Amino acid sequence: MPIRDPRFDSAIDIAPPRVDAEPSVNADYPWDVFDSAAYFEHNYSSLRSDDEQIIDIVAGFFQKNEQRRLRAQAIDVGAGANLYPALAMLPFAAELTLCERGFSNRQWLEAEILTPHPSWWQFWSHMNAGRAAYQPIKNPFDLLGRRAQVTKGNIFSLPAGSYDMGTMFFVAESITNREPEFVRATRSFVNSLKPRAPFAAAFMRNSSGYRVGNRSFPACSVDEDDVRAALAPVVAPNVTIQTVESRSLRDGYCGMMVATGFKKA
Ligand SMILES: C[S@@+](CC[C@H](N)C(=O)[O-])C[C@H]1O[C@@H](n2cnc3c(N)ncnc32)[C@H](O)[C@@H]1O
Repeated sequence: MPIRDPRFDSAIDIAPPRVDAEPSVNADYPWDVFDSAAYFEHNYSSLRSDDEQIIDIVAGFFQKNEQRRLRAQAIDVGAGANLYPALAMLPFAAELTLCERGFSNRQWLEAEILTPHPSWWQFWSHMNAGRAAYQPIKNPFDLLGRRAQVTKGNIFSLPAGSYDMGTMFFVAESITNREPEFVRATRSFVNSLKPRAPFAAAFMRNSSGYRVGNRSFPACSVDEDDVRAALAPVVAPNVTIQTVESRSLRDGYCGMMVATGFKKA
């Protein structure tokens, strides 16, 4: 009697549908081999006017609300190949956690905080200009190297209530194309903060996805209403969402948005 090969058994071929409690698109993308150098080169090898506007919003907000207190713990979630959110928190943070899921980005960050590209001086100079909280820092990159630590982390499983201030730039909407995942990521970021902690979060507006090196990455197309709705249950009511004009980065998006506010009490 021939032995039945299950690969050709039609009853076995019909696989049951995959049941995931929380379907994840984020997990399907190759974050570990994200081309950090290509991303940096395209986005941060020189200071553009959209980033100037974001710096004005974020540094202005932190300066106004931190009263130059030295905060214990700050976090930048999904730090990628970007140092300027961390720089914006530098005057207020005793320790800065640069949290990243991707291996290549963590390696890039480890090297970058010790030997930063010269273009970060353009970002720092813009931040520093006319802002009293930033001006006492004469060697920002020495300080960053001492205060920052790169950690492996997932935005969906951050420890709750742990940080005194935080940033999340172009992450929640740029790591998935599923709206529920965007919402979950946004709320998880804010939930990682302590009650009343200040935060700043930047989002691509109506993005259809992006390429880094030779790979494509997803986006969830969101606007100001979506960001407000995602934040509403976890933030104090006075959250501000500002639209930043931006056209020159690539096709497939309609500006940027910056939310500043406080985790709810
Ligand atoms: C579009 S990049 C933004 C990088 C940087 N924050 C910036 O401002 O340019 C998205 C980043 O999120 C990271 N990422 C993807 N999934 C993540 C997750 N589940 N948790 C934390 N970070 C994640 C990626 O590796 C990447 O660095």
